[in-house]
Amino acid sequence: MAFYQIWIRSFKDGNGDGIGDLYGVYEKLEYIRSLGVDGIWFSPIYPSPNADFGYDISDYRDIHPDYGDLAQFRKVLARAHELGLKVIMDLVVNHTSDEHPWFQESRKGRDNPYSDYYIWRDTPNNWDSLFEGKAWEYDETRGQYYLHLFAKKQPDLNMDNPKVREEVKGILRFWLDMGVDGFREDVINFISKKEGLPDGLPFLPAINGMPYYKDGPHIHEYMAEFRKVCKEYDCFQLGEGPLTTVQSALKYLTGPERSLDMMFSFDHMMADCFYTEYIHRPFSLPKLKKAFTKWQNALNGKAWNALYLENHDHPRVISRYGSERFWRESGTMLAASYLFQQGTPFIYQGQEIGMTNIRLKSIEQYVDVSTHTNFHRYHLKDSLEKRMERIHHSSRDSSRTPMQWDHTEHAGFSEAEPWFYVNPNYERVNVEEEEKDPWSILNFYRSCLALRKKSKTLLWGSYREFFPGDRQIYMYERAYGKTRYLIVCSFADKPVRVRMPKEYVDRKGKLVLCNYPRGEREELYRAIKRPDGEQGWFLPYEARVYRVSVTT
Ligand code: GLC
Ligand code: CA
Repeated sequence: MAFYQIWIRSFKDGNGDGIGDLYGVYEKLEYIRSLGVDGIWFSPIYPSPNADFGYDISDYRDIHPDYGDLAQFRKVLARAHELGLKVIMDLVVNHTSDEHPWFQESRKGRDNPYSDYYIWRDTPNNWDSLFEGKAWEYDETRGQYYLHLFAKKQPDLNMDNPKVREEVKGILRFWLDMGVDGFREDVINFISKKEGLPDGLPFLPAINGMPYYKDGPHIHEYMAEFRKVCKEYDCFQLGEGPLTTVQSALKYLTGPERSLDMMFSFDHMMADCFYTEYIHRPFSLPKLKKAFTKWQNALNGKAWNALYLENHDHPRVISRYGSERFWRESGTMLAASYLFQQGTPFIYQGQEIGMTNIRLKSIEQYVDVSTHTNFHRYHLKDSLEKRMERIHHSSRDSSRTPMQWDHTEHAGFSEAEPWFYVNPNYERVNVEEEEKDPWSILNFYRSCLALRKKSKTLLWGSYREFFPGDRQIYMYERAYGKTRYLIVCSFADKPVRVRMPKEYVDRKGKLVLCNYPRGEREELYRAIKRPDGEQGWFLPYEARVYRVSVTT
C-alpha cells in the first residue's frame, strides 16, 4: 500500500472560484492512480470557518460548501473505489470549531445537554496552547474559561463525557456507512487529559502542559471504544501522534489493547526546525538517520510504520533536507531515502513533483495561525530579516500553496485568481513538464513505488542501516529470503567517496535504480576524474538501489 494525501483547498479547483474542491479531485483521480498509490487521505473537507483550515470543524457530517457537497463526495468515493483507491478521512475529535453547534450550546450555561461537552473552568491553569497564546479563553456568555490546546477557535472536547464519545462513534459510523475505508485520527494521543488539569512546568513554552494531556490516563479505554466500532467495518485506523515516543506508540499498535493500525511519528521531522521557528537548527543528517532507524528497528516484527517526509504541517522537504539548487537530484534522492523503508508510504500533494517552500515578503501575507503566533512569540530581538528567514523555513503555509499542474497562469490550478499564492517556480516545477521528462522527480516517485510493489523484500524485508555515523550518506538494506536491496543516498552537494558493504562491491550488486540518467552519470564521473564512479563515488544527491541474490 501507499497513500496520497490531499489538502483540498490547494489541490485543484474544478469550478473556477480559485479554491480547490471535490470537482477538481474528481478530475485528478486518474493522475493519483498513475502514481502507483492505493489510497487517498483527505485532510478535513467538512464545514469549517477555517481558523485552522479545516481542523476546526463546525459540522462532522457534511462537506464544506467551498469543496462541494455530499453528493459530489459520494461520486469521488465511487470513482476512487473503481480505480482501486481506498479513501480515508481525517477524524478531528480532540477539538471542534467554536462555531460548532455543540459549543454554541455549551457556552450558553452550565445546565444544558451540551454543557459538559467541553472543558470549562472558573480559573485556568498555566498551560500554553500550541497555536495561540495561553490554552484558556474566557467566554463572556458562560462566564468561564474553556480549554483550547490549539487555536482559540478550537475548543477541546471533554472526552471524559460518555456522550461525547458516543458522538465520535456516530461520526465514525456516518462515514463508514457511506463507504469510506478508514480514518487518520488527528492529535489522537491528546484526547484524554489528566484529572484536575495540574499546572505544567513553567519553562517549556508552548508545550508546558503536554505531560498532562499526551497519552493521558484514559486514552486506551477511549481508543478501545472507537476501535470496536471500526472493527465492525474492518476499517483502517491511522493515528497522528505529535511527539509520540516509540514506547508509547507501541502501546497503541500492539498487544491486546491495540487501537491503531499505524501511527505517524514526528521524530524524523525534527532534524531541523519542526514546524515552529522556536526550535530552528541547521539540518542534521545523523539526526534524521537516527530517527529513521530507531522507528524501523523498534517496530520491526511488532508493528508497521507510516512513512512520510511531508504533509500539510511541515514545510517542503527539498527546502529542508535537500537543496533547491540540486532540486531534481535532491528531490529524487529524498524519495529513495524513505520509500524503501519498512512501512506504508504517504506522499503529500506536490511532494511528487518536488514543490519547494514559498518566500512571501511580509508576515501579513501568511495565513496559518501558528505561523503568526510563532512570529510574534519567538526571537523578537532578531532583525526582521532574520525573523522572516525563519518563517520561510518553518511556516506550514509553504506546503499549502496551490498544486502546480502546468506552466499556464495560476499553474493550471484554477482559472481564477487562487485563494493563496502560487509558488513562482511553477513554470519549471509542474506536473505537465515532469510527465515529459523520464528523469523527473514525478517519474522517479513512480519508479520507486513500482519497484516496491513488485518486491517482497522491499515490502516485508528486515531493515539494517550501514555506517550510521556517516555525515553525508544514508545507507540501508532490506533483506527477505534470498534477496537483498541496498539503498544508498547521498545528502552531499558535491561528489563524495562512499564505502560499500562487501556484499555489494565489485559489481556484485545489480544496480536497479538510480536518480541520474546513465549517460549523464558516466560523463559526470569522468568529469570528476573518477572512472570507478559506479562503485566508489557518488554525485551530488545521488541515490542508488542495488539488488543482490544470496546464493548460499
Ligand atoms: C494536527 C493537524 C494540524 C492541525 C492540528 C490541530 O497536528 O495535522 O494541521 O492544525 O492537528 O488540529
Ligand atoms: Ca472551487
